[in-house]
Amino acid sequence: MTSTVHAMRTQVGIIGAGPAGLLLSHLLALRGIDSIVVEVRSRAHCEARQRAGVLEAGSADLLRAAGLGARLDREGLEHGGIYLQFAGQRHHVDFRDLTGGQAVTVYAQTEVVKDLIAARLAAGAAIEFGVSDTEVADAGTDRPVLRYTGAGGGRHEVRCDVLAGCDGFHGICRPAIPAGLLTVHETSYPYAWLGILADVPPSTDELIYCHHPDGFALHSMRTPWISRLYLQVAPDEDIAAWPDDRIWAQLRKRFALPGWELKEGPVLEKGIIPMRSFVSGPMRYGRLFLAGDAAHIVPPTGAKGLNLALADVAVLAEALASLLTCGHTGLADAYSDTCRSRVWRATHFSWWMTTMLHATPGASPMEAQLQLSQLRYVTSSRAAATTLAENYVGYPQLKTAAKTYP
Ligand code: APR
Ligand code: PHB
Repeated sequence: MTSTVHAMRTQVGIIGAGPAGLLLSHLLALRGIDSIVVEVRSRAHCEARQRAGVLEAGSADLLRAAGLGARLDREGLEHGGIYLQFAGQRHHVDFRDLTGGQAVTVYAQTEVVKDLIAARLAAGAAIEFGVSDTEVADAGTDRPVLRYTGAGGGRHEVRCDVLAGCDGFHGICRPAIPAGLLTVHETSYPYAWLGILADVPPSTDELIYCHHPDGFALHSMRTPWISRLYLQVAPDEDIAAWPDDRIWAQLRKRFALPGWELKEGPVLEKGIIPMRSFVSGPMRYGRLFLAGDAAHIVPPTGAKGLNLALADVAVLAEALASLLTCGHTGLADAYSDTCRSRVWRATHFSWWMTTMLHATPGASPMEAQLQLSQLRYVTSSRAAATTLAENYVGYPQLKTAAKTYP
């Protein structure tokens, strides 16, 4: 018995419905380019998984320019700085003062994803959730193919002009690039994060990044009613070893400051987040382009992962529009180098923030003193604080040409 393969054709086959794949499909549609997005997970799963929460000014502007700013502007929380805490003191780093008025927006990745899915479905876009056995083929030719089994069980084959691998770190697109063509740089860290979502208003007006001998802690938030908090733990930590009481006790201890109190509430969700830096390149093989976590991963300290994914697809949408609409290859040829310059800046910044703020297991007293000296420098020198602020708000600043979005 032969099973039927449903054949179709589109301009861009997008693998993965994370922020990269969804925004790419949206930006392409604004340029009159058709795409399909295929995603292994369900829509509910994509809209619920806890991820990052901070948008650079350029990322927020990009979403606004693409017509996705309504809820972001209503519900996003603009933050003009962060606190750095160490040696029993909390210091404010004032981004607006240091960067000529720039700020970031606290707006969860889950909300960005919900807004994107809603906008794409309202526009009648093809997003296939719950697919399996995704395959990409013929990327080295000018007629690449995307194959998948739909949620209903039918096998599909989509002939495309271009494939976009937006399928995250564990996806199939990066491994589809022939071995030997890809260069990988990576490092792992001797710790992980334990993250909780708590049903309690944040105890702080701005995020607190806290260095403590027991380990790093971060107080972030999702809304004025929901807090997001993180603790440095061992890389192989078992979440079962962390009942809620133990988590709150460690958070209280690490954030402790006279006259300040950590508000506690029910833990809605908890999980362990691995930490790694990973940069692969080039981000293109023939007609297969990689974007977001499929090509690079940063540790979460400094909140760059989501912003890099959005920046990649802003560049990719321009490049594909130029390629597919005008036949110009220049931007597509430059895509990987254009993105990787920003990727390396963010990779360095995330590594620097991570190593400056975490307690390194086995660090010598010398190394511990050097780390404290770096923290004192960043919180006392305007030049050093400006380096942190400029990178945190986004460097280079992502520029959105308003005229490109009708
Ligand atoms: N076929 C189809 N979809 C796939 C496949 C596959 N074989 N493999 C993975 N996917 C999907 C995943 O289920 C996920 O929804 O690709 C999507 C990739 O999305 P993300 O992991 O969110 O990656 P990206 O869009 O690049 O966004 C990067 O996510 O991990 C965070 O910190 C990171 O904030 C950053 C952002
Ligand atoms: C988050 O809110 O999830 C968050 C914020 C800042 C970070 C990392 C994560 O540096």
